[in-house]
Amino acid sequence: METPLLSVKDLRIQFNSREGVNEAVKGINFDIEAGKTLAVVGESGSGKSVSAMALTRLLPKPPICEINGQVHYDGQDVMAMSSADLRHIRGKEIAYIFQEPSVSLNPVFTIGSQIAEAIKLHMPHIKDVNAHIIDALDKVGIRDAEKRIKDYPHQLSGGMQQRVMIAMALVCEPRILVADEPTTALDVTIQAQIMDLLREVRERTGMAILLITHNFGIVNHFADDVAVMFRGEIVERGPVDQVLSKPEHPYTQALLDCIPRLGEKRERLTTIDHDKLAV
Ligand SMILES: Nc1ncnc2c1ncn2[C@@H]1O[C@H](COP(=O)(O)OP(=O)(O)O)[C@@H](O)[C@H]1O
Ligand SMILES: [Mg+2]
Repeated sequence: METPLLSVKDLRIQFNSREGVNEAVKGINFDIEAGKTLAVVGESGSGKSVSAMALTRLLPKPPICEINGQVHYDGQDVMAMSSADLRHIRGKEIAYIFQEPSVSLNPVFTIGSQIAEAIKLHMPHIKDVNAHIIDALDKVGIRDAEKRIKDYPHQLSGGMQQRVMIAMALVCEPRILVADEPTTALDVTIQAQIMDLLREVRERTGMAILLITHNFGIVNHFADDVAVMFRGEIVERGPVDQVLSKPEHPYTQALLDCIPRLGEKRERLTTIDHDKLAV
């Protein structure tokens, strides 16, 4: 078996506040190999985003937040890394795209200057930064990239901002892309275009993807494996075909029951009754 590019063992994340202790993630395990995609599904608040952020320790410091367990990226112990090493890994080796472009795009700088910043930081050997930016924007389907680099984020539509964010994440050719609900805010056509783009990059570069989504259509067509999170735990994990066709955990079954099968019409949306779940 190939050594995984990313390996997470017994990851625990806890938030401490005056109100008390919130055990947001309670000991999860997963691996991702190069070129593969792991989808993470689960209801809001189940710990998907904080797990993704913990991979490069992008969370508040103790005592507000405590992270325990092991994260290994390419054999390196992320939990033991210095802040300087982590800054190198973030963006260059493990890049993030979030649902909201405003989290990643700064309103007061042109998109060109923001992408340039990432290139200068992570790829200082690149001489023609401008050409590299234009190429990166081209690749995410932004036409007239030469003109667009002078735009500020607010001058672009939501879909375009999302593409810029993806261009920025991909410009340094990361080995792992963490995509946290990357298309949730977008309409279906743009959603499909962006997933096609990610698929193309994955095939061309062998990038691994950790994809957080609530769209089972995307899980089915795009991911190799899926992990189902429920209240801070991974309750089920396995190859997509297997989990979707034979879900074993009642929560996975309940999640899948919420989506209409192809061609089947639903009278109303099913809601999940947590109290009836035997967990
Ligand atoms: N910065 C933070 N400070 C305190 N609690 C947080 C913070 N971020 C997330 N949490 C808590 O961690 C839990 C998991 O959140 P999150 O990972 O965002 O869920 P998901 O992405 O699955 O919707 C929630 O209970 C949330 O309130
Ligand atoms: Mg989230």
